[in-house]
Amino acid sequence: MRAVLDIDDLHLRIGRMPVLRGVDLTVEAGQVHGLVGESGAGKTMVGRAVLGILPSAARITDGHVTFAGIDLINLPAASRRGLLGRRMSMIPQDPMTALNPVYRIGRQLTDVLRHSLGLGRQAARQRALELLEQVRIAEPGRVLRQYPHELSGGMRQRVLIASAFACGPEFIIADEPTTALDVTVQREILRLIRKLQQDKGTAILFVTHDLGVVAKICDRVSVIHSGRIVESGTASQLFAVPQHPYTKALFAATPRYDRPGNRLVPVPRQLTLRLLEDAAAYDQRRRMLRHA
Ligand SMILES: Nc1ncnc2c1ncn2[C@@H]1O[C@H](COP(=O)(O)OP(=O)(O)OP(=O)(O)O)[C@@H](O)[C@H]1O
Ligand SMILES: [Mg+2]
Repeated sequence: MRAVLDIDDLHLRIGRMPVLRGVDLTVEAGQVHGLVGESGAGKTMVGRAVLGILPSAARITDGHVTFAGIDLINLPAASRRGLLGRRMSMIPQDPMTALNPVYRIGRQLTDVLRHSLGLGRQAARQRALELLEQVRIAEPGRVLRQYPHELSGGMRQRVLIASAFACGPEFIIADEPTTALDVTVQREILRLIRKLQQDKGTAILFVTHDLGVVAKICDRVSVIHSGRIVESGTASQLFAVPQHPYTKALFAATPRYDRPGNRLVPVPRQLTLRLLEDAAAYDQRRRMLRHA
């Protein structure tokens, strides 16, 4: 197996607050790797650190991020921008804010293609039509002439999926790409992402807080809790025998359609506090070792 993305001991602060505290994560070529954890755990910041689109107050204080053998942390901004869109891209959570409301879909898709692939106007339009067909949009010619507000949420997300796959990237970060959609549309979109990913052999880091989504789409999974990966393995391992107390708590807090009678147990506050203490102790041990 070849790693497309390797994150090693990544530390990130926003202002003075530690947000990532030694994240280790490897995404293999052609696989869907789930990143699960509750709100605020740091999932989005992992993705933004990889793409190089951090909020201005955020600082990477330690660690390495390697993409296809390239050291991303020390890469000059211009080279990094060169990778975005072409070799790595993103499917965002909220399709409405990701599309520009004042431009037609066609303009937005062809801009990406002309800029990243250097296609001419006609070739870009032709390619945009093909891409919309790939994401199973009926009447692609009509959709190219429409504005984002004229499309449903599911249709807008299809357009963004087309745009993410447009330049044949090796790696895509999907940050909660179905959270804003209703359940039936969510299922179709997941199936579509899985199909395109398999056909093209793209690796995906799939950020979600939903273990049901993980079960449907992921090959491997990492569980993140307060800025650190607490468990990592194949999706089937994780579902069969979750090891870490936090992962077990996450399962207990997830509704099961096959066991509707089961009472849901929220993640206990004591457990969260204990994990935070463990993390602080671990940081201290590392610092001591480093200065020894
Ligand atoms: N722009 C920002 N400025 C300050 N703090 C931020 C900013 N963005 C995120 N944070 C903080 O960083 C931490 C991690 O946030 P992140 O968005 O990565 O969480 P998440 O796991 O993606 O959560 P969610 O499931 O809610 O999307 C949180 O404590 C959050 O409050
Ligand atoms: Mg997030």
